[in-house]
Amino acid sequence: MNPGGPHDRTGAFHVPKGFERAELEPTLEHTMSPTFHLGARHAVSGARDLGPFRLPTHDLLTHAVIVGMTGSGKTGLVTVMVEEALRAGVPVLVIDVKGDLPNLKLAFPSFDPATMGPWVEPAAGDADGVADEPLVREAAEIRKKGLSAWGITAEELAAYTAGTFVRIVTPGSDAGESLHLLSSMERRSPRWDTDLHGARTMLDAAVSLVLRLSGHPSMPVQTRQHAFLFFLAETRLRSGRTATLEELVPEILDPPMETVGALPVEIFLGHKLRVELAAELNTLIASPAFAAWREGQDLDVGRWMEPVEGKTPATIVSVAHLDDDERTLALGVVLEEVLAWVRSLSGTARLRALVVFDEVRGFLPPNPACPPTKRPLVSLMQQARAYGVGVVLATQNPMDLDYRALSNAGTWMLGRLQTDADRARVMEGLGEDRKTSTLAEIVKKLSPRWFVVREARSEQPSLLNPRWAMSYLRGPMTQREIRRARAATPDRKVSFDADRVAVGKKPVKPEG
Ligand SMILES: Nc1ncnc2c1ncn2[C@@H]1O[C@H](COP(=O)(O)OP(=O)(O)OP(=O)(O)O)[C@@H](O)[C@H]1O
Ligand SMILES: [Mg+2]
Repeated sequence: MNPGGPHDRTGAFHVPKGFERAELEPTLEHTMSPTFHLGARHAVSGARDLGPFRLPTHDLLTHAVIVGMTGSGKTGLVTVMVEEALRAGVPVLVIDVKGDLPNLKLAFPSFDPATMGPWVEPAAGDADGVADEPLVREAAEIRKKGLSAWGITAEELAAYTAGTFVRIVTPGSDAGESLHLLSSMERRSPRWDTDLHGARTMLDAAVSLVLRLSGHPSMPVQTRQHAFLFFLAETRLRSGRTATLEELVPEILDPPMETVGALPVEIFLGHKLRVELAAELNTLIASPAFAAWREGQDLDVGRWMEPVEGKTPATIVSVAHLDDDERTLALGVVLEEVLAWVRSLSGTARLRALVVFDEVRGFLPPNPACPPTKRPLVSLMQQARAYGVGVVLATQNPMDLDYRALSNAGTWMLGRLQTDADRARVMEGLGEDRKTSTLAEIVKKLSPRWFVVREARSEQPSLLNPRWAMSYLRGPMTQREIRRARAATPDRKVSFDADRVAVGKKPVKPEG
């Protein structure tokens, strides 16, 4: 089933009464004002139309959390937020677990059915697998009607696509841009000379990834194998050398040092265990699947946030093609790098970048669970604000969130929640009084694409009906479709030398 297909759109679409083009503020406002125009604002009673819903960008510095059951419109809302950020010149990093955020690549510059045609889901049993013309026309018409109802013109679509640059990065696959996830270990980063703490954190995440991929699934992060490999790699990197696995394997067998910390190497990790470790890593080196983790561009979040030919960038790191363990590990490495990048920025009170994570379930769980993604996410929630970086998290499953980490979140957007347990959990997380609060009742009855919003600076919640997304929300994209989307609108304006050693660039400050 394609949840983004045209047919479920017709029923879902709803223009709030009295919210017509005339009531929207002038278009220039979209880009000039420091607010994101997310859609329409209504009173929580649902009766009163309060005009456009404008979220001050400043509010996103205290981060936002979006929850709601499946189909409540979270991904649609996230997409609108990303689009608004890009319109406002704020670069975005999107973490995509379910595969539908690459839809951001499908923001066609006009209402012309022809551009949209290849992306419309064909009818069941369609012989050539390409949607027939009447279906395409219908889908294009629905999109046009949807966007027009929110005052979005063809000129604005064209301006949006001309001003933005969307790249899709797929760790472990070359469907999108590939990513060398071990670059912080195998290619020497200049960070070793400027930010030792950040460099060590990145190396730690890379070593965890290597050990996990080499078949240590149940290994706690800090084993002696981990510490030993880290020590060997760090020694090489700090002395200005690289630390590829090919270089490390011989050193595991025949260490170039006598001691690790206060212990002789033989006692720290005996010969037998070292031979085992070397053999495991060697098998890894020989595995074609592993090669895919070591190909492509360096992991360099600062570069992703730089404008490309004057366009505001959105980088979608998509891990939908990976299994659960691989996702957690790959995103652990990516998020550690995001954190290191954030900490390298200068302080600011303005929103200079947005990090968006759609479907955070399993990546920020309550204690005692601690997947590799949790530490960097918690740190981002606590620290990114001072550096002008906002975080937006969305999930279907509010039971699975570490609420202590989210206690700082300023903006909460609650779509419909079906179960009592989910509602109770969210109300508790929000500090709502169970006896007096009416929020839970409202959340229970919400229609799809309606959210109760509790804003950072307002006691009074209100309702948000997100506007129609400019990107064509056709649902999860396969690896083949990602390839096709990239071929249609190439994102490789900047070419990478796969063997390039990380360049000694200064950390980027996207908004000055
Ligand atoms: N802002 C929007 N503009 C246009 N269509 C939308 C928008 N929001 C939602 N939709 C439509 O509604 C469908 C369901 O919404 P969406 O995928 O956002 O739900 P969700 O809450 O993310 O669900 P899940 O938890 O299963 O991921 C989308 O596939 C799309 O067709
Ligand atoms: Mg979704």
